[in-house]
Amino acid sequence: MINIGIIGFGTVGTGTARILIEKRDVLRERLGFDINLKRVADLDVKRDRGIKLSEGILTTDANAIINDPDMDIIVELIGGIHPAKDFILQAIKNKKHVVTANKALLATEGNEIFAAAEKCGVEIGFEASVAGGIPIIKVIREGLIANRILAVYGIINGTSNYILTKMTDEKVEFSDALKEAQRLGYAEADPTYDIEGIDSAHKLAILASLAYGIPLSYDNVYKEGITKISSQDIEFASELGYKVKLLAITKAVDGEVELRVHPTMLPKDYLISKVDGVFNAIYVEGDAVGATLYYGRGAGDMPTGSAVVSDISDIARNINMKATGRVPGLGRAKEGIGIRKIEDVESMYYFRFSALDRPGVLSKISGVLGNNNISIASVIQKGRRIGEAVPLVVLTHMAKERDVIHAVREIDNLPVVAEKTLYIRVEGKEE
Ligand code: HSE
Repeated sequence: MINIGIIGFGTVGTGTARILIEKRDVLRERLGFDINLKRVADLDVKRDRGIKLSEGILTTDANAIINDPDMDIIVELIGGIHPAKDFILQAIKNKKHVVTANKALLATEGNEIFAAAEKCGVEIGFEASVAGGIPIIKVIREGLIANRILAVYGIINGTSNYILTKMTDEKVEFSDALKEAQRLGYAEADPTYDIEGIDSAHKLAILASLAYGIPLSYDNVYKEGITKISSQDIEFASELGYKVKLLAITKAVDGEVELRVHPTMLPKDYLISKVDGVFNAIYVEGDAVGATLYYGRGAGDMPTGSAVVSDISDIARNINMKATGRVPGLGRAKEGIGIRKIEDVESMYYFRFSALDRPGVLSKISGVLGNNNISIASVIQKGRRIGEAVPLVVLTHMAKERDVIHAVREIDNLPVVAEKTLYIRVEGKEE
């Protein structure tokens, strides 16, 4: 029998406890031994979570779990940095294996945590930290071990995908869509994590570390959220044959790794473009397997609980076979692989200029683009308001971000441009 202690009886803690209790027999049948939920700790032991724990399981004292000599696996589901980090490090010191869904903690403090775990000979399971119920950690670390990973593109924040979907399908404005996402309980405690790309960047740091064998590099992830995207951009994108998604991208380019999170225009007919609402999807391209896509629920009690129980089962099997450490947590991370600066990234671009409706304006703007090596693929101008500002939309061929930054700075200083230019990176085949 393997004893489990859960710290944090919130949404994911409740889903995990429910699975461990209600599926105990199924798990025993599949594993050939018993998984016993021994204790659950939370500061709030009064709230009804709709799940019955046996007498003596619930406690307010996390240390009672961490310091219990009979406890085999500690499951940290409180989120945030402190005290989660302290609990995990203490558990590791006590030679307990750890399972966590804490993407923010792993992305920012994970190098220290994984090093401590390796030193003490314990495992860290973190399947639930990225894309909820989709077993993407196992896919990249184990399922695709034969591959050099060429690229990973992920919709890995359900809240922002929900907001963009609402804005696309129902022409709802950003703030109303956000309120609805919060009501549904998918948003982080601080929703700026969702809408500013921080949560996606946490998850991307974890995926990139597994895909490219680099240390967790959250600080080097370029982040741009969805707050500047308006419903008119979504409409223009649609007219041009694209959908706007918040994508987390990592790929290997000329010996460096790109790490970026930003709104991206994707051709409507791509499978990943059809991933709507709170759903997540991750496209992974390997040199042997080719293109693969993983889709499912990226948040919520039962989907995330499913991932937590998968980790518990793996570790429990390893404990029983005396084979812990069989699969290294982060793979074999090595220093020295460069992270590509955003200025060096190449992409196609969508620009929305706010230009005065006056003869010669387009040639001024296209002149600046041309002088900065940016070649135009198509142009739309909407509306007719002589002498006033109208949106002028330009799609480009492949261009360097450094050139785009220079061009936009120059264009925004032109007297014929009324507001700051908005640009969105575009994926897909170059026309
Ligand atoms: N806030 C996250 C999301 C929850 O919206 O995807 C799951 O990590």
